[in-house]
Amino acid sequence: MTGPAVLLLDAAGPESGALAKAAAARGYAVHAATTPGGYAAYGRELKGLLAGQVLTDLGQPERAGEEITAYARRRGVGAVLTVNEYLTELAALVCAELGLPGNDPARSRAARDKAAMARALAGAGVRTPYTRLAYDDVQLEAVLSDSQVGFPCVIKPVGGAGSAGVTVATGQAEAAAAADAARAVTGMYASVGDPRVLVQAYAAGTEYSVESITQDGATTHLAVTEKRVTGGAHRVETGHSLPTRLPPAIEAAVYQEVDVAIRAVGIRHGASHTEVIVDADGRCTVIEIAARLAAGQIGLLLQYALGLDVWAALLNIALGRPAALTPTADGYATVRFMTSPRAGRLASVCGLPKQGPGVPFVRWRAAIGGPVHEPGVNAHRLGSFVVTGTDAAEVEERADTLLRQVRIHVELPCEGGASQVRPASTSAIAL
Ligand SMILES: Nc1ncnc2c1ncn2[C@@H]1O[C@H](COP(=O)(O)OP(=O)(O)OP(=O)(O)O)[C@@H](O)[C@H]1O
Ligand SMILES: [Mg+2]
Repeated sequence: MTGPAVLLLDAAGPESGALAKAAAARGYAVHAATTPGGYAAYGRELKGLLAGQVLTDLGQPERAGEEITAYARRRGVGAVLTVNEYLTELAALVCAELGLPGNDPARSRAARDKAAMARALAGAGVRTPYTRLAYDDVQLEAVLSDSQVGFPCVIKPVGGAGSAGVTVATGQAEAAAAADAARAVTGMYASVGDPRVLVQAYAAGTEYSVESITQDGATTHLAVTEKRVTGGAHRVETGHSLPTRLPPAIEAAVYQEVDVAIRAVGIRHGASHTEVIVDADGRCTVIEIAARLAAGQIGLLLQYALGLDVWAALLNIALGRPAALTPTADGYATVRFMTSPRAGRLASVCGLPKQGPGVPFVRWRAAIGGPVHEPGVNAHRLGSFVVTGTDAAEVEERADTLLRQVRIHVELPCEGGASQVRPASTSAIAL
């Protein structure tokens, strides 16, 4: 191994796995920082490509930071990066300690803690939903009677991700239960929830995300992604499509908000994923910003649609080298997430798309016999597939057709312990 050593803050998950493979393919020595339990769960392929690992308690960021920094110094690590939402703050801290390209550790909390984010974005003049914090039910009641909040409002955990514990509440009773659900969210590495609950004014409109890469403080927006999101109390993304061509004036306004948001949360080197809602008048509201590459196969969409190798770009930026960010293709790509319309036990699945021309990626992750849920959080997705092509309308139509062909049978529990198997379509929620 002759290349530099790179350290990934946790290497689990599809995006991190792709990054680890891309680094190993370039001859870099790939190291991972994770928890003992996390390492035990790594697959054989991932373990096989690691040059080393530091096992630490990622729920104790201060101590983890010291242990990771010491390990990185010992192993001559030349780049530290993460695609894990929960570790972006730690990544900024470790990069700063080691003098490597990274984000501003003094501001990195604002890309993770949604209360700090709301303050930082509003302070920088970014249009964001009016946001209040409630520490208990008494405060919650007071916050809900604030006329700037109103109903519907959005109740969410301060440090959550993947839509866990996020509820669009339409009334007082629902709001109290939603606050309990938000408090119960622990995140990936913590063992207890946060007593604080965020209450936000509801932003109506169409949801997009902006995928950007920043190097030395200069930002390139790679694409605008349009989301498919479930309606109702729990909003779960069921699909992403890119690149979305917004009218130029709206695109410029969206990019301008995102540029300010990126600076406000201290992003200097690396990817960001900013979720926005554009209302009927074309006004853009920033819902949240993450100091990492988007999840949900958006990295693959960027690769298939625009010919961008985001993994190579991220590695180069973390190493302080020039990154190639100019599209080399002019296509279109979409991902559909397959979900179950009802809770129960998965009895069977058929009609899954086959990988082939125009369908470069198919993944099914739900086990037969295992539980399925109505989509309430991203973790309820059963699988996903990507469709690509040159014509956006054709790609969307093909993806919808393929989604309709996927059939699952869900075993529903009945009274007296018996069960009943009912057919269901994985497209029922997504359409
Ligand atoms: N203020 C808001 N107004 C309207 N919709 C909202 C608002 N806040 C959140 N949502 C909806 O709820 C979804 C999840 O909220 P949010 O993105 O804050 O949570 P998250 O846990 O970070 O989710 P993810 O990790 O999937 O992005 C959003 O994608 C959006 O559809
Ligand atoms: Mg979000």
